[in-house]
Amino acid sequence: MSAAKICVVGSINADLTVNVDRHPTPGETLLGSGGGITAGGKGANQACAAARLGAPVALVGAVGTDSNAIPATALLREAGVDLTHVEEVTEVTGLAVITVAANGENTVQVVPGANALVDADFVSRHAEPVEAAEVVLLQGEIPADGFARAVELAKGRVVINLAPVVDVPREALLAADPLMANEHEAGLILDQLGYDSTGTPEDLARRLKDAGFASVVLTLGAAGALVVEGDALTHIPSPQVEAVDTVGAGDSFAGAFCARIIEGDTLVEASTYACRVGAFSVTRPGAQPSYPTAADTLPGA
Ligand code: RIB
Repeated sequence: MSAAKICVVGSINADLTVNVDRHPTPGETLLGSGGGITAGGKGANQACAAARLGAPVALVGAVGTDSNAIPATALLREAGVDLTHVEEVTEVTGLAVITVAANGENTVQVVPGANALVDADFVSRHAEPVEAAEVVLLQGEIPADGFARAVELAKGRVVINLAPVVDVPREALLAADPLMANEHEAGLILDQLGYDSTGTPEDLARRLKDAGFASVVLTLGAAGALVVEGDALTHIPSPQVEAVDTVGAGDSFAGAFCARIIEGDTLVEASTYACRVGAFSVTRPGAQPSYPTAADTLPGA
C-alpha cells in the first residue's frame, strides 16, 4: 500500500535548454549558450516541487531506455519521490527543447516519447498509488485515456492543471477541484467546453466555475493568482522578484499547492504559499533545479 498522500500521474522529460539574447525569427540562426540536460516534464516537475517541500509523493509515469532517463529522474530520486510506478519502456525518454531569452521568456517544444505510453492500460497497471492518494494531480502531457483512467481510479481530491490544453473527456476534466490554469489555458479550456473565452482574468475564472468546476485557481504569473470557491473570488498577490527563467514556475505552484492541501490548508492559503514558491523558482534557472526545499527562505512575508 502506497504511503504517498499525493499521486502525480504525468510526464517525465529531459529538458534540453538553450539560452539566447532573444528568440529567433523563423528561418533565423542565432548563437546561444547552455545546451545542458536537466530534469523536467510537467508531471515530474510537480511531483518534485511537492516532495522537496516535504510531501510524500508517488509518481506514475514512464521513461525510455536511453541515457536521458538518468538526468530526467535524478532530482525526483534526490527529493524522495516514490518511483516504484515509473516504468522503463522501449521508447525514448520524453524530450523538451527549451529556449530561454534574456528577458526570462521561454518557448518549449515537447517530444512525448515514453510519456505517450501512459495510457488507460498503463494507469490501470499502476492503480494502487492512485487509489490510495489523498490528492491525485494531473496535467496534459499524457494520453487522454490515461488521464481519464486516473480520474476514474481516484478516491481522493483530483487537482488538474491541464497544461498543455489537450482534448480530454469532459466528465474527467470537470472532476477537478480545483482546476488550475493560467490565463491562456483558461481561455482554451473555456473554448473546449463551449463557453465564451474572452474577458478579464476575473471573468475567465468565474466562467470556469460556472462551467461546472467545484473550484478554480487561475495563475497570473507575477500578478499572483485568483481563487474561486463558492461565490467568492480572492485575488492573491505574488511577491515581486527579478525573474531569470520562468520554465516550470507553474509546475512549482501546482506541486506546492498540493503539498499544502494535504496539510489542511484552504485553497486560498495553499495558493498564497504556492505563489511564494513560484516566485522563488523564477529567480533560478531550469525547472526542477529551481525549486525550493522546506529549508529555503521564500520571498514574501
Ligand atoms: O512546465 C515546464 C515543463 O514543460 C518543462 O520542464 C518541459 O519538460 C515541459 O514539459
